[in-house]
Amino acid sequence: MSTQIYDRNDIIAMLRYQFEMGIDEALLDFPDALASPVKLSELLAPTNMTLDLPAKTPAGPIIGPMGKKATKLPPSRNGRVAVAPAVAACPSFSNATDLSKITSLADLRACLAALDDCPLKHTASNLCFADGNPGARVVIIGEVPGRDEDRMGVPFVGFAGQLLDKMLACIGLDRTSTYLINMLPWRPPGNRTPTDEEFAMLTPWLFRHVQLAKPEFILLLGGAAAKLVFGSQDGILKLRGKWREIDFGDGVMRPTLASLHPAYLLRSPAQKQLAFEDLLMLASRLNLAAVDNKSG
Ligand code: URA
Repeated sequence: MSTQIYDRNDIIAMLRYQFEMGIDEALLDFPDALASPVKLSELLAPTNMTLDLPAKTPAGPIIGPMGKKATKLPPSRNGRVAVAPAVAACPSFSNATDLSKITSLADLRACLAALDDCPLKHTASNLCFADGNPGARVVIIGEVPGRDEDRMGVPFVGFAGQLLDKMLACIGLDRTSTYLINMLPWRPPGNRTPTDEEFAMLTPWLFRHVQLAKPEFILLLGGAAAKLVFGSQDGILKLRGKWREIDFGDGVMRPTLASLHPAYLLRSPAQKQLAFEDLLMLASRLNLAAVDNKSG
């Protein structure tokens, strides 16, 4: 076996390359020689995206970011939606997939897991689809999976998630009474800020996720989620603490509240009081709605 000797600069350059590709931790003591390498050129090449979908579901509107309807694709053949190359080359090409044909959370998960055209899928370790109870009255939308979430494939399992659990417990909620998802289901490489193209590609999937979970209330955690869903440039301190009625693309107005992200609260514990005020607003809406349902 030949041994290649590299100098210090080569090694630093190789480490930097790996870091930029999202490899920012060592999981094994030795490299896995059997793992097939992912070629950057293949990841970035425009492709004809196809998605396996049930053939019988009637075609419906295409969901765009902020619930706007976009243009329709030609009808699917044999249950496969073919995306024209011109559409595939567009940065937001996944918006062209008719997500209304996905009619269950299990199918949504399977279709997302097959979304090979999303570069984030290839740099993340795992799809972070959801945690908690899909039938819960409250959906909590976080930002992006962190390192622990990426490793486990479960949202909010790291320190921020542990704080979130404690915060929810204060108002009698836990993961059996909430459903937790993120704006993006994959961790961006090296924890970098997601690009506009990545948001454009994945926001329709987030909106479809909400439509299929059918929650009564939505809690947005952090400025990025609040800005995205409210379509606002204001900061989280301005956006938090007010109920807004939001249409996630299915014509249903869902009461939606933004609050501070637990990761921010770990860095700025003095702000926990504001987050607690928001949680009490959620608790009182939940209790009021429960009373209404009983008397109605
Ligand atoms: N922060 C988030 O927004 N989501 C997670 O899943 C973890 C940390």
